[in-house]
Amino acid sequence: MNHRIKTLSNYIHHYEKSIQDPEAFWGEIASIFQWKKPWKKILSWNFEGPDIKWFDGAQLNITENIFERLLPTHAEKTAILWEPNNPNDKSQKITYQELFHLTCQFSNVLESHGVKKGDRVIIYMPMIPEAAIAMLACARVGAIHSVVFAGFSATALADRINDCKAKMVLTADGNYRGAKNIPVKAVVDEALEKAPSVKKVIVCQRTGETVIMIPDRDIWWHDVMEGQSNQHAAVSMDAEDSLFILYTSGSTGKPKGVVHSTAGYMVYTYYSFLNVFQYNPTDIYWCTADIGWITGHSYIIYGPLLAGATSVMFEGVPTYPHPGRFWEIIDKFKINQFYTAPTAIRALQAYGLDPITPYSLASLTVIGSVGEPINEEAWHWYHTNIGKGKCPLVDTWWQTETGGIMISPLAGITPNKPAHASLPLPGIQPVIVDAEGNELKGNNVEGNLCIAFPWPSIIRTTYGDHKRCKETYFSTYPGMYFTGDGAKRDHDGYFRILGRVDDVINVSGHRMGTAEVENAINEHPKVIESAVVGYPHDIKGQGIYAFVICESSDDIAKLSEEIKDTVRKIIGPIAKPDVVQIVPGLPKTRSGKIMRRILRKVASQDLSNMGDTSTLLNPEVVEEIIKGAQKN
Ligand code: WT7
Repeated sequence: MNHRIKTLSNYIHHYEKSIQDPEAFWGEIASIFQWKKPWKKILSWNFEGPDIKWFDGAQLNITENIFERLLPTHAEKTAILWEPNNPNDKSQKITYQELFHLTCQFSNVLESHGVKKGDRVIIYMPMIPEAAIAMLACARVGAIHSVVFAGFSATALADRINDCKAKMVLTADGNYRGAKNIPVKAVVDEALEKAPSVKKVIVCQRTGETVIMIPDRDIWWHDVMEGQSNQHAAVSMDAEDSLFILYTSGSTGKPKGVVHSTAGYMVYTYYSFLNVFQYNPTDIYWCTADIGWITGHSYIIYGPLLAGATSVMFEGVPTYPHPGRFWEIIDKFKINQFYTAPTAIRALQAYGLDPITPYSLASLTVIGSVGEPINEEAWHWYHTNIGKGKCPLVDTWWQTETGGIMISPLAGITPNKPAHASLPLPGIQPVIVDAEGNELKGNNVEGNLCIAFPWPSIIRTTYGDHKRCKETYFSTYPGMYFTGDGAKRDHDGYFRILGRVDDVINVSGHRMGTAEVENAINEHPKVIESAVVGYPHDIKGQGIYAFVICESSDDIAKLSEEIKDTVRKIIGPIAKPDVVQIVPGLPKTRSGKIMRRILRKVASQDLSNMGDTSTLLNPEVVEEIIKGAQKN
């Protein structure tokens, strides 16, 4: 069986095979890789633990499957095509051979500074090639990387370092983001005051600004790379050894460290990349995500490189120095597959068609969307004006926890239906259940989206707290993985994702727990209590609306700004509330639970039917909140 799907009937055939005999199906795909030791059992699992093992008994190194496996045929091919923030600066082409040598050199650096298999290393870096090299070198020496998005605050960074007790941080002096230059090293310095496990910081020079280098702790990337051998013998990893931790928000508590293991993740990101984007050997592929998110891990770095692709990495932002930057880059590199987020599409849509007209976009063959539901208007705008009506649009639904794309059209193969993630990839068994967990079979059903069977890149645990993994994903509907999303299966059997059904909001494609934002707001000395909800936002998808009870309400405007600033400092700019409304009280049930349903309605200015408020402890407060919202 050739594992590259080419037609719709091909897809149906592969899908059926993957359900009837999952082990044979994935075993065949896995056989293309280099294994240092073969597996004993392709899959053993239960969702009660959960305890899931793919390719158990096997040994491998994921970077050998990028380099040693591909170099005989790909040495001179460009692996990473890097575009700097400033279009007047030089872009960079790094071939597979060069990337291999740099990865080996940095692997030697890591080992010479005491990094061993199983150690945790934090990567807090701009979108520069060294970030990719850092990830690959960690994987090569068997260290578990945890990339933290470089827009997170010092507190958020310290929390993540402390949770996984990392011993090293890889960072840069500064981070160019559009017209801004963010001093990332200074953020690391502040974080490390509260994170004692870190013994070494390696700093890559990017902006050349002055930074404080602490003796014995901080070392320059270019200094330690000098004289290192460009050969390195990859460390043997067990199939189920952890490859990385990536922190993500949930409905309760602090962000949790989603743990992915080596072999299954490798097989699935490779397979899904190839089939969803229909990548051909000479194509240039560009995913605009940041490596701080799972999309960057799976579809800038691992999936494309395992498939021998040329993967574009962009340092900047879509609107700098002008709102046609994305389209300019597409023409400059003759991009074939372009993968971005609905929030970027909506933001660029707001500039009209003028920024697009100077560019032909003729090289595009596939366009993709990820991170949140894409509304029909944005879908059509993207399809018509960027895809010129001829490029298949892949609306890819997946999650940090799923490791790879789960439900998506395969480009040019699955008939497109606007705003529908469409059909599951081979190996993926989605089910829709009602609130009691009964499966809703057949078409034209709507409910909660679960997955009934393991796939190779499924989350293995949440770092340091396996119970939390079980409770969050495997306990709501025993025997199934619960996604937290609502979904509909239409009359054609196509899936449409309806958004989160828990207290998680999706702001510009970033996942945010409302509890996490509330905890940050409550740090402000004048705040007594707060409740955060999402509301529809034209560009961000959802905006953040905070209802806050304060000790005094003298200068409301000043207080609101201070509260927003508190959240920015504690989590980062992406979590800053769009609206802060100071309220005299919050609607609560007699058992003391905040009735968020009411707050969501107020925040979305949907006052038509407030539902039953008679069970509230304090119904009078609803009137006052509505009055206050109208003034806001
Ligand atoms: C949540 C996962 C997976 C990469 C980026 C986000 C939402 C993601 C889609 C889509 C509708 C989507 C879901 C999901 N989501 N892609 N194509 N259509 N919703 O990863 O931060 O783990 O967030 O993003 O609600 O649960 P994440």
